[in-house]
Amino acid sequence: MRDLPLVSDPNLITGIEHAEDAGVYKLSPELALVQTVDFFTPTVDDPYTFGQIAATNALNDVYAMGGKPLTAMNIVCFPVKEMDIGILRDVLRGGLDKMREAGVLLVGGHSVEDSEIKYGLSVTGVIHPDKVLFNRGAVAGDSLILTKPLGTGILSTAAKSGEIDPQQLREAIDSMTRLNKKAAELIMENGSIHACTDITGFGFLGHASEMVEGSTVGLRINSAAVPLFNGLQKLVEEGFVPGGLYRNKEFRIAQIETADIFPSWLLDVFFDPQTAGGLFFSLPAELAASLVGKMHSAGIGAAAIVGEVVADHPGRIFVY
Ligand code: CO
Ligand code: CO
Repeated sequence: MRDLPLVSDPNLITGIEHAEDAGVYKLSPELALVQTVDFFTPTVDDPYTFGQIAATNALNDVYAMGGKPLTAMNIVCFPVKEMDIGILRDVLRGGLDKMREAGVLLVGGHSVEDSEIKYGLSVTGVIHPDKVLFNRGAVAGDSLILTKPLGTGILSTAAKSGEIDPQQLREAIDSMTRLNKKAAELIMENGSIHACTDITGFGFLGHASEMVEGSTVGLRINSAAVPLFNGLQKLVEEGFVPGGLYRNKEFRIAQIETADIFPSWLLDVFFDPQTAGGLFFSLPAELAASLVGKMHSAGIGAAAIVGEVVADHPGRIFVY
């Protein structure tokens, strides 16, 4: 998207220039629109579950900006001649159930005939213009918190080959169908968040890189504290990595430095493209532990302090 001409408008709070999670446009001093769109091919076999995952993934981009989603529209690509329409019905039902959980109203949609099924949402939400959470703005001394385990791309890839046990897949699905609604509410209640994004297609270190690229701060990530799904080492070493993982790694590896001894499978996991991943944000260190505690009490059990923001290697990430 970097070759597109940039739009400038005094009411545009975030546009396309900083890889933000959603566009934000100010309507009045008290109200801004949050808009995002996301759709993709199935990541799991079950149509209803796929619908839930795709809707969660799209809605989460509004939460990542600190916004409240209000309305959504379905985006559907479907091979109407080759596939049973009942499958589409199940996908849409999954999406609808997540919209209901989010308190979001379905107001329309569009479908086209395609060789492969694809589903997602365009979501519109609102936020106070002064409360928008940007992916940049982290301050040296901040703590970094991640709210969901990593590894959904690897687990989904292995599941397609029937290489993981149902329990392992269940955990990944539970995570991919969990809205970041409650986590975002706790974040907004805290009110002291400096930078926030959600972990999706570019992987943990990809989105972390966006947070510091070209800025005056860098990150230090304590890999032992980063929440992961079980069994990832074996799957990565057996080659169950999604195509996007190595693209993510290649694109961002120049920004990353690791400790002398760092397991290569774990670095791969840190670039695993996530679907409907957790929120990743920075806040003053003295506020971090109590917010993690509140998240645990609210059922966001994986939330953890995973690192800190530093001034000594601006724009770069050190992983140990
Ligand atoms: Co996002
Ligand atoms: Co997105």
